[in-house]
Amino acid sequence: MPALLTDQAHEPIARLLEQQLDEVSVLFERQLASDLTAVNALCRHVEQYRGKMLRPTLVLLSGLAASGDPCDGAALGEKHRIIAAVAEMIHMATLVHDDVLDDAEVRRRGATVNHLRGNETAVMLGDYLISNAFHLCSTAGDPAINLALGEVTNTLCEGELVQLHHRHDHSIDEATYLEIISRKTASLIGECCRLGAALSGAPSEIADALRRFGRSLGLAFQIQDDLLDITGDQTVVGKSLGKDLDKGKLTLPLIRHLAVVGERERAEAVRMIERRDAAALRACLIDCGAVEATRQTAIDHVAHAKGQLAKLPESAASRLLATLADAIVTRRY
Ligand code: FPP
Ligand code: MG
Repeated sequence: MPALLTDQAHEPIARLLEQQLDEVSVLFERQLASDLTAVNALCRHVEQYRGKMLRPTLVLLSGLAASGDPCDGAALGEKHRIIAAVAEMIHMATLVHDDVLDDAEVRRRGATVNHLRGNETAVMLGDYLISNAFHLCSTAGDPAINLALGEVTNTLCEGELVQLHHRHDHSIDEATYLEIISRKTASLIGECCRLGAALSGAPSEIADALRRFGRSLGLAFQIQDDLLDITGDQTVVGKSLGKDLDKGKLTLPLIRHLAVVGERERAEAVRMIERRDAAALRACLIDCGAVEATRQTAIDHVAHAKGQLAKLPESAASRLLATLADAIVTRRY
């Protein structure tokens, strides 16, 4: 059961989801199995990064919700499971590369590949994962899916490039931040939802509503992720924190604070950034209310996401999507 939905484990829809996710894991592991021990060892290592399985869950639940499935799983086919595994592999590739960019040491309570084996191996392993993702995707035999996911990987690289462009930019505005997170995070999550629905034969209004659901969820997810980077406890979150500050990436609470404060407070905040004084900055962003206001923004995106579900037929899958959306902003890891 995905960790974000453990409270629902008794529901028939949750049991169906769990069984489908097991099949997705088999596809994932089979695709990455290599006859080379050295390659296999690395793949086994990153497989431990699979925790929340958010993206595969969204492909499957969207496939079910789009057709108002009565929990028997008839709406889900092999293509759903393939695309669920592909989405997770793309996500994994981006994390392995992201940890190189962030010099991160910990991911899902274990050592990052770059920390364990160096940047060269991590870059190559990320390449291996992305290559395998598109190889697996091709087995679905539908070029439109390859095209759609290729567009997403282009988009998320653009998001990272814009983010790099704005490193150490103390004047970055909220619109630019939203553009970055929309591309680097929300694009893949939105497409997971749209593809899940499209593979169930849903009409475009339903598939598009689910894409909007996923995109808003993705924005909320990244805002919460960025909040955890400032306020979280590394032993609970299970990955290196404080990396945004280390790498000069300004996120929403800080962007908002710098946009509204007077000259003296701004200079003070910039000093904290330059000294990478995470504790002082955390206290400052909590005291001025920027953390709370940002949390509210994430909640607003979740509300917008849930609003899209009203366009779907009533079903247990749609209710589970709403529960999942709420869990995005209450999560502590
Ligand atoms: C998380 O950032 C990063 C992403 C959501 C996208 C990363 C994408 C790339 C590095 C481009 C690589 C592209 C391909 C196709 C392999 P974060 O640092 O805020 O999240 P974290 O807290 O989990 O580290
Ligand atoms: Mg990172």
